[in-house]
Amino acid sequence: MLQYINENKERFLNELLDLLRIPSVSADSKFKQDMLNAAAYVRDRISDAGADRAEIFETPGHPVVYGEKIVDPALPTVLIYGHYDVQPADPYELWNSPPFEPVIKNERIYARGSCDDKGQFYMHIKALETMLATGNLVCNVKIMIEGEEEIGSSHLGDFVREHKDLLKCDTILISDTSIIANDVPSIETGLRGLTYVEVEVVGANRDLHSGVYGGGVANPINVLCEMIASLKDENGHITIPGFYDNVEDLTADQRAALNAAPFDLDEYKNDLQIDDIAGEAGYSTIERTSVRPTLDVNGIWGGYIGEGAKTVLPSKANAKISMRLVPNQTDNEILEIFTKHFESIAPASVKVKVMPHHGGLPYVTPTDSVEYQAAEMAMEESFGKKPIPTRGGGSIPIVALFEQELGRKSILMGFGLDIDALHSPNESYGLFNYYKGIETIPLFFKHYAALKLVRS
Ligand code: BES
Ligand code: MN
Ligand code: MN
Repeated sequence: MLQYINENKERFLNELLDLLRIPSVSADSKFKQDMLNAAAYVRDRISDAGADRAEIFETPGHPVVYGEKIVDPALPTVLIYGHYDVQPADPYELWNSPPFEPVIKNERIYARGSCDDKGQFYMHIKALETMLATGNLVCNVKIMIEGEEEIGSSHLGDFVREHKDLLKCDTILISDTSIIANDVPSIETGLRGLTYVEVEVVGANRDLHSGVYGGGVANPINVLCEMIASLKDENGHITIPGFYDNVEDLTADQRAALNAAPFDLDEYKNDLQIDDIAGEAGYSTIERTSVRPTLDVNGIWGGYIGEGAKTVLPSKANAKISMRLVPNQTDNEILEIFTKHFESIAPASVKVKVMPHHGGLPYVTPTDSVEYQAAEMAMEESFGKKPIPTRGGGSIPIVALFEQELGRKSILMGFGLDIDALHSPNESYGLFNYYKGIETIPLFFKHYAALKLVRS
């Protein structure tokens, strides 16, 4: 297989570059046709790889691509999941090269989606091709690549519920997360959940002269800022009553294990060019960004932001607020208590509205499962080092739903790095990581099939 990968290296890369040229931004309707083009491209490449089925399924949103190769119904079945949609590339002016014109520089592929998640799910299509071309496919493969992950996977839940038979599998393998470093392989054993809301604070029925009315009428921007500021105390604890009620507390041993992962604070600060870090008192950076819940303002607007100065008391102010959740919080419960609290702290001088966006449940997976061990063995074989289990801070909403609806655990065998700049300008993905992924995935299948045989 290594020889096959090596002989087809250039083509494997060029096919990915073609996919990266399609601006499949799910959030922006101006890219609707590009979404369809990307789905068709993925379907055709799954078909070329040797699958005996490759189709596009319509949904009320962006389509889902599905393919499969059933070698022998007696063998275990692995469902591959990924997403062909990408985050908006804005702000374009901060890119050193256009986001949808991929370039290779310093052994890295620069383009929106290079790591998240086109570069990562495409490794699976090339691994499938490699296993089939060399007669090494030892599991059945199903592959589902969706187009709405970056906007909350809101139609995928129904799709999964309506296609339970189609998606029936023994485990789910996903490459959409990161490793600690190229010489420190790791596997994420958890993801955070998410509650995302938009809030609106309204004062007077119109914008007002800030001299005539200023001092006598509530300024919604001032009020919104005060309300947001009150959501955390001086220790960085979230003040919403009940917010921490269901939060899973880790044991001292679990905390020690998490904090034993290599982490260099100076390097972290240096990379971000910050003089100090910030966060919840009593927790390390690793804990703050993985096993502790958060509350962050993602955007805030209102009033006059044009050139020069305008003396005005705006009538409205808005913010987008997200909360990352940890086991055993649920997005619905947090939405409910956030809404109740936010409404309760609003002064009578304004009206507030809380509008929910998307959400998702947190996820954890044990390290003693057959699938975790197969991933561990695969990475140990390809990296020459046993991977460290970590807990991820990001969210992939469908993962908890897979567990609910299909009764199957997902393995997060990702190959990204923090420096890949996901969602940021100049996103990139290392060529090393791309090829290492293609090399490691068949090893997962090999070990998974062998372990399943022994256990059954
Ligand atoms: N691939 C990421 C999630 C991720 C990144 C997990 C790095 C672990 C490490 C995914 O595409 C993503 O960005 N998810 C969103 C989910 C949201 C839009 C519902 C997120 O985490 O913000
Ligand atoms: Mn992703
Ligand atoms: Mn993403």
